[in-house]
Amino acid sequence: MTDCYAVFGQPISHSKSPRIHSFFAAQTGQDLSYTAQEVAPEHFTARVGDFFAAGGLGLNCTVPLKELAFDYAQVKTPRAERAKAVNTLKRLPDGAVLGDNTDGGGLVTDLLDNHHLTLAGQRILLLGAGGASRGILAPLLEQCPHSLRIANRTAAKAEQLAAEFADLGAVSGGGFADLAGQCFDLILNATSASLSGQLPPLPAGLLSPGGVCYDLAYGNQPTAFVRWGQAQGAAHSLDGLGMLIEQAAEAFRLWRGIRPDSAPLIALFDHERTSL
Ligand code: ATR
Repeated sequence: MTDCYAVFGQPISHSKSPRIHSFFAAQTGQDLSYTAQEVAPEHFTARVGDFFAAGGLGLNCTVPLKELAFDYAQVKTPRAERAKAVNTLKRLPDGAVLGDNTDGGGLVTDLLDNHHLTLAGQRILLLGAGGASRGILAPLLEQCPHSLRIANRTAAKAEQLAAEFADLGAVSGGGFADLAGQCFDLILNATSASLSGQLPPLPAGLLSPGGVCYDLAYGNQPTAFVRWGQAQGAAHSLDGLGMLIEQAAEAFRLWRGIRPDSAPLIALFDHERTSL
C-alpha cells in the first residue's frame, strides 16, 4: 500500500504542497501519495482521526488549522510547544500523533543556506504579532541576533509576544509609530496585510545600508512589502517562496527520515513565475 500524506486547510485549492512533496518523493525515490484536502475548522478533529485511522502517516495543517493541530497532537516538539501552533503531524509507531512546527526552521534555512545571510549580531525587525510571527520567533532568536523588535498594529500584542519569548534573547515589542528613528539590518514581514496588497505604516529610514527585507508571503508578482523593500534600497528584497519549500523539506524529513534537496525546486518555481 502506498504511504499516504495530505495537507488540510481552508481554502486549499491553490496549495503548492502536493506538487512540492511529489517532487521530493521522486527526487529521493520514495513511494508516497500527497493530496490537498479542504477541511473546515469544525470538522478538523474528525477528519484527522479518520485520516490516521485509515492508515495515513502524516499531515500538514495550514491556515486556519495550525492551533487546532497543536491541540490535537499528543506529543509535541519543543519548537511546536513554543509556537503554540503545529503545521506537521506524524503518526508514531505506537499510534500517538506527534506535532511539529517547521515554519521557523524553514525560514531560517532559507535565510542562511539559500540567501547566505547571517542572523547572528543583526538588528531584526519583525512586523506582525499573529500566528505567523509566533511560529518563527524561537528559531530566529536561536540564531543570536543583536536584537529583535516586534512591531504590530495592535502594540499590546507585540509587547505580550515579546514578553513570552524574552527568555530566548533580546526581544522587545511595540507599535509602528515607535519605530521612528530606529534602524534595522533585516526586516521581516509576518503581517497578513501583504496578502491583500497592503503595507503596514512604516516610517522612512528603517533599513540600514545593505539591509535586507523578507516577506513571509509570496506570490507570482512581487508583494507590496517586497516592492517597499526595493524602494528602500534593500540589498535583497525577498519573498517567502524559499521558506515555503524549506518548511516542506523539513516536514518531509520528519516523515521519511531523508532531507530532500530543495534547490532544484526553488529554481523551478522561480523560473515558472518569471516566465508568466
Ligand atoms: P497570521 O496567522 O497570518 O499571523 P493573524 O494571527 O490573524 O494571522 O495575524 C495577522 C497579523 O497581521 C497581525 O499582526 C495583524 O495585526 P493586529 O494584531 O493589529 O490585528 C496584522 N495585520 C493584518 N492586517 C494588517 C494591516 N492592514 N496593517 C497592518 N497589520 C495588519
